[in-house]
Amino acid sequence: MKELLSLLFCMLFLHSFKHASAACHVDDQAGLLGFKSGITHDPSGILSSWKPGTDCCSWNGITCLDNIRVSAISLYANLDKPNGYLTGTISPSLVKVQNLDGIYVHDHNITGPFPGFLFGLPKLKYIYIENNKLSGPLPPNIGKMAQLEALSLSGNQFSGLIPSSVANLTQLTQLKLGNNLLSGPIPQGISKLTKLSYLSLQNNKLTGAIPDFFSSFTNLRILELSHNKFSGKIPNSIASLAPKLAYLELGHNALTGTIPSFLGMFKALDTLDLSWNNFTQTVPKSFGNLTKIFNLDLSHNSLVDPFPVMNVTGIESLDLSYNKFNLKQIPNWVTWSPIIYSLKLAKCGIKMNLNDWKPKETYFYDYIDLSYNEISGSPVWLLNKTDYLVGFWASGNKLRFDLGSLKIAGTLRNLELSRNLVYGKVPKSVSGLKSLNLSYNHLCGQLPPTKFPAGAFVGNDCLCGSPLPPCKVKGK
Ligand SMILES: *[C@@H]1O[C@H](CO)[C@@H](O)[C@H](O)[C@H]1NC(C)=O
Ligand SMILES: *[C@@H]1O[C@H](CO)[C@@H](O)[C@H](O)[C@H]1NC(C)=O
Ligand SMILES: *[C@@H]1O[C@H](CO)[C@@H](O)[C@H](O)[C@H]1NC(C)=O
Ligand SMILES: *[C@@H]1O[C@H](CO)[C@@H](O)[C@H](O)[C@H]1NC(C)=O
Ligand SMILES: *[C@@H]1O[C@H](CO)[C@@H](O)[C@H](O)[C@H]1NC(C)=O
Ligand SMILES: *[C@@H]1O[C@H](CO)[C@@H](O)[C@H](O)[C@H]1NC(C)=O
Ligand SMILES: *[C@@H]1O[C@H](CO)[C@@H](O)[C@H](O)[C@H]1NC(C)=O
Repeated sequence: MKELLSLLFCMLFLHSFKHASAACHVDDQAGLLGFKSGITHDPSGILSSWKPGTDCCSWNGITCLDNIRVSAISLYANLDKPNGYLTGTISPSLVKVQNLDGIYVHDHNITGPFPGFLFGLPKLKYIYIENNKLSGPLPPNIGKMAQLEALSLSGNQFSGLIPSSVANLTQLTQLKLGNNLLSGPIPQGISKLTKLSYLSLQNNKLTGAIPDFFSSFTNLRILELSHNKFSGKIPNSIASLAPKLAYLELGHNALTGTIPSFLGMFKALDTLDLSWNNFTQTVPKSFGNLTKIFNLDLSHNSLVDPFPVMNVTGIESLDLSYNKFNLKQIPNWVTWSPIIYSLKLAKCGIKMNLNDWKPKETYFYDYIDLSYNEISGSPVWLLNKTDYLVGFWASGNKLRFDLGSLKIAGTLRNLELSRNLVYGKVPKSVSGLKSLNLSYNHLCGQLPPTKFPAGAFVGNDCLCGSPLPPCKVKGK
């Protein structure tokens, strides 16, 4: 019995060994080696296991079906190593890898035009060639790859129009063309892609109105159209995305009109960015229903009071800066947030004493911008209660405190306190900052050695020493 078992075991072992040593399909091996020869630099050895005569199913980044046919190529850069990426072009010999179902090539320095051989891969469903340097136009017949379920070319240098034939890519759940140089309008035909859950076209040069075609998109969770040149109003059909949409990013465009009140009905909304547009009038009262919103950016518009009473348990990041608000206080729903890390309320008409502010949690703060308000008191206690603060901006207020008592956390990079009533000396610890502005306060004494220009220190009572004029030597 024992012998029988060990014989069985032995056979099993031999069987699996045979499989492991089986070479992958010759065409796949040839196609992949062709790809490797198109790569001119691979300083971190991402492709070093790709050697002729070894089983290509065992090569780094290769996935096989049944240990024979290559089904996916996944090459991610070693972002923690300098030069941990590939340079070169994508060789058309990859067309030999006929069973390829996904190609994932992220964060490299791959150049050249759109790889036309992709059209010759009938089983290809997933294209993710993100953050490389592909350029030129997208092929007008891109719609021929009708079997595609995901097309992401974000972070390249593609230019020209989005081809109207994308309308034929009806199986797509993801279409990501952000961070390229695409221009012209959004093609109407995108309305046919009703399976989309992720549509991202942000950071291009797209123009025209945002099409009013969203009623057919019942699965859309992420819509990113920010950093383009879209004009006109937020289309009404966006209302039909209410049940599922989690990310709506329309910032940095030239949109006009009012913020539609239907946005308040978006039960799943996590992130809303309408910043840097020309939205006018009030923020709708219905925003009080956005109980799950984490990131809200309405900055740089022309919005007016009254700001709605929000009912949100944990805002993480809020930017209402540079509108026409007169909030008077930091809103309670902000003060009570246990998880907030970024608070930006510049020029929001806040008139308060900072010493009266009793935030529930300060530990997570990375950014605090309270510039150009009428805030008095001292931020010393606040900065003493943050461990990770990266930026504190409070220029143009009435803050009165001894700069020497301010804790400058090791993480702090930006400190802007110009045009306040700050007194005392400038501490040495400011030398680790990336930007600093202490101009127009009541500081005095000799400056520590500093890389900052005179503009960061002018307009104080009696600061002296480089880059300001030298200090007067005592007794002369
Ligand atoms: C990227 O590739 C181009 C062309 O092959 C080359 O000139 C350039 O130096 C590479 N850039 C980096 C950052 O490796
Ligand atoms: C979509 O495909 C059909 C047939 O396959 C073709 O007639 C049509 O022109 C294509 N549409 C676009 C917008 O390219
Ligand atoms: C916003 O409107 C103002 C005047 O109402 C105009 O001067 C400005 O150019 C507009 N900005 C954009 C981005 O359209
Ligand atoms: C919030 O939603 C409820 C029901 O979903 C609705 O009755 C109410 O009017 C909404 N509140 C606002 C301010 O729109
Ligand atoms: C705030 O939202 C909670 C659900 O998250 C709800 O139970 C409560 O009634 C709401 N309060 C107000 C004042 O709308
Ligand atoms: C900062 O807080 C600590 C206690 O957490 C305290 O000992 C120290 O005096 C405070 N420093 C300032 C400048 O308030
Ligand atoms: C510092 O702030 C002043 C006044 O707010 C501003 O005029 C100046 O450009 C700023 N200088 C630097 C170097 O940031």
